[in-house]
Amino acid sequence: MLRRGIRTFATAAESAVAYNIKVGRAQGKVNGFIGAIGNTPMIRLNKLSEETGCEIYGKAEFQNPGGSQLTPFADRAALYVVKDAEERGLLQPGGTVIEGTAGNTGIGLAHVCRSKGYQCKIYMPDTQSQGKIDLLRLLGAEVFPVPAVPFDDPNNYNHQAKRAAEEIENAVWTNQFDNTANRRAHIETTGPEIWAQLGGKVDAFTCATGTGGTLAGVTRYLKEVSDGQTECWLADPPGSVLYSYIKSGGKLSERAGGSITEGIGQGRVTDNLAKEISLISDAIQVPDSETIKMVYRLLDEEGLYMGASSALNVVAAYHLAQKIGPGKTVATILCDGAYRYADRLFSKKWLQAKGLDTAIPAHLQKYAVLD
Ligand SMILES: Cc1ncc(COP(=O)(O)O)c(C=O)c1O
Repeated sequence: MLRRGIRTFATAAESAVAYNIKVGRAQGKVNGFIGAIGNTPMIRLNKLSEETGCEIYGKAEFQNPGGSQLTPFADRAALYVVKDAEERGLLQPGGTVIEGTAGNTGIGLAHVCRSKGYQCKIYMPDTQSQGKIDLLRLLGAEVFPVPAVPFDDPNNYNHQAKRAAEEIENAVWTNQFDNTANRRAHIETTGPEIWAQLGGKVDAFTCATGTGGTLAGVTRYLKEVSDGQTECWLADPPGSVLYSYIKSGGKLSERAGGSITEGIGQGRVTDNLAKEISLISDAIQVPDSETIKMVYRLLDEEGLYMGASSALNVVAAYHLAQKIGPGKTVATILCDGAYRYADRLFSKKWLQAKGLDTAIPAHLQKYAVLD
């Protein structure tokens, strides 16, 4: 008995030493929720790197603190639009942050507001799921579901958010799409992290856009620090106008078609993107069939449970790697996990209804476990 006990202890002590090496690389102590934003790992996508002969890395933005595994993608942008309002003296202690959003930014803002002691009001189209509304409410935000009308209607949720901020004292409309503090978050944090983590070897970067903050900010930083050497490409889903905008050298076409991806694809050039669009080398359009296949491949081959916008980014990085040739390093963004989208992405019925069931190779079909 005694011998056995001693042996167990010795083994545990040995492995504890090995463990300390990993712990030494951890982020360390941080100041509150805000301090935990950023410094996310760069994950080497092993199988895809081997296949292309390039080093393909995804920045694990899904590891930001907001919403744990749910929707932590917009924490950086949320932090910076609030920080910007504070710096400009527009937001005083106890003030109110107002945004029109159907996406992740609302959740990021709700977290940031709780941590900084602000009120948070979110306007969104009334077509959104009760789950999303409930999540925002339980994070302390006041939610205003308003009729889902087009952007040019004064009752569109964005305009209602703006008007509300004008009517309330000590309130700001954070305006994620056209407030360039969003882009600044990525110039000051995401871009420098990618460069440092990859030891200054970033031959190419690509990601899709919603507000355009990530692509614009990271591109700006990487272009500057690499003396123009890093190629930065837009990754775009069908139904967005940006792919043809870049390919045509600046012609805005009508928005046509759609995509299963959420949070990405645009009908216009936002102010965040406009600032840096001339630095974008080229664009890749990724069909939904390739995106869904990559959702399943990431799960099967890399052990990564990622949503569709992340998968689309990885498809673009893969094509970019093939294009620029072996020995190069390509970086992209892993936005959020598949948790919020699982009832669709892994549902046989949904895949069939979208005509995407055949896009998934036979050996990966086993992951479509939901009816
Ligand atoms: C899931 C997801 N992916 C990608 C994006 C696009 O990022 P950005 O708004 O920085 O362009 C968003 C935007 O919020 C998103 O919610």
